Amino acid sequence: MVIIGENIRYLRMKKGVTQEELAVHLGITHQSVSKWENGVTAPDLQLIPTIAEYFGVTIDTLFKASIDPDKVIITYNDIRKDLPNTQLRYLFVKLGWCPEDDFSHADRFNNPFINSTLVISAWAGERLVGCARVLSDKIVRSVIHDVAVDPEYQGKGIGKNLVKRCLQHYPKSEWLVSTETQTGFYKKLGFSESDKAGIFLHIPSKYF
Ligand SMILES: CC(C)(COP(=O)(O)OP(=O)(O)OC[C@H]1O[C@@H](n2cnc3c(N)ncnc32)[C@H](O)[C@@H]1OP(=O)(O)O)[C@@H](O)C(=O)NCCC(=O)NCCS
Repeated sequence: MVIIGENIRYLRMKKGVTQEELAVHLGITHQSVSKWENGVTAPDLQLIPTIAEYFGVTIDTLFKASIDPDKVIITYNDIRKDLPNTQLRYLFVKLGWCPEDDFSHADRFNNPFINSTLVISAWAGERLVGCARVLSDKIVRSVIHDVAVDPEYQGKGIGKNLVKRCLQHYPKSEWLVSTETQTGFYKKLGFSESDKAGIFLHIPSKYF
């Protein structure tokens, strides 16, 4: 029951409301909210649906081990390529890489990942929070694509770990990446703008 109190505190801070404001909404005292958050007591069962609705989460979420991204342990997977379509698409939608209302490829969203040489994924429990994929000859030339971290989990070293793991698989390879906005991020990981790489010429994708 300590867990639900921790989650209520996290959701309340995220929403930017005080214990008093939450208490007024629920028709209880702010001392009650304080006791939940400190693990002294737990909310009455009949209040649970109202609390979940207030924070815009499911009842399940309230009871999860921990929903605070700062406390969640991130695990990495360097083997699995068939990332779950729904979660992968949701990650892309959150980053503005895929229109929210475009479901045309929803059931095969992970195909570019399945067909890649290497896929690294980052997980908070069962939740996909980051990914990167590589097209490579596994020896001399490698290109990195779709390095993505869920905005709720950015700034915690996940992006760095994803790219580092990619590089470790083919340590002697040349690595290329194309980015409009994240030059600084890649430079921290050893990438540099190079004359040797020549001019990047391309034909745009017909997808996105
Ligand atoms: C770019 C992205 C992958 C970085 O992932 P992240 O998990 O937030 O980054 P990290 O926490 O691992 O940051 C690693 C380091 O890079 C730095 N960094 C991150 N983004 C940066 C940027 N845009 N410019 C300069 N430095 C940056 C961090 O400060 C950190 O520095 P430190 O090691 O000195 O502390 C993530 O912000 C993202 O998914 N962005 C949207 C999608 C995107 O643009 N992807 C790149 C496609 S080319």
